[in-house]
Amino acid sequence: MDDLIEDLLAHPKVLETRSHLHHGIAKYEHLMRVTRYSYRIARLLKADVRVCARAALLHDIDSRYGTLENHGAVAARWAEEQGEDFAVCQAIIGHMYPIGPAPMTREGWILSLADKAASLADLTAYVRGLVNGRSQQTKRELQASDPFYRPRRKPKRREQLRKMLDLDV
Ligand SMILES: [Fe+2]
Ligand SMILES: [Fe+2]
Repeated sequence: MDDLIEDLLAHPKVLETRSHLHHGIAKYEHLMRVTRYSYRIARLLKADVRVCARAALLHDIDSRYGTLENHGAVAARWAEEQGEDFAVCQAIIGHMYPIGPAPMTREGWILSLADKAASLADLTAYVRGLVNGRSQQTKRELQASDPFYRPRRKPKRREQLRKMLDLDV
């Protein structure tokens, strides 16, 4: 499998995802899990393994520049600029289905399925890590290293109260 994505694995844009937070884990881990799943399903269904592996590795690149619905298009545009095949970009666009547009090819359906299965596995791994504190530790480290991470600010009690009383805050 690695020979199909060797160039991408060394790409700075892929490597930087090691320090990005995604589903409570490093985005890189999620991308690699989706890539392994996509590759296996593609082999099983005799789909294009190269398209599936490359699309999987790039499917969430720059996702923070998009929304839940359109970050597939953001990643696909980046892949297109890098010279990826049309089939790879097409598969990436539909990976969020049913939130975003539906996949148009077999490889697109494989990626969409693999992404969901991998997200579930990410969550399972995260929950398992809560027991020994690993998940919290990793999350804290990623929050510190992720340039996109913004802590959610809790409204102060007084602000909350004023809002509840319908006063101008
Ligand atoms: Fe995504
Ligand atoms: Fe994903």
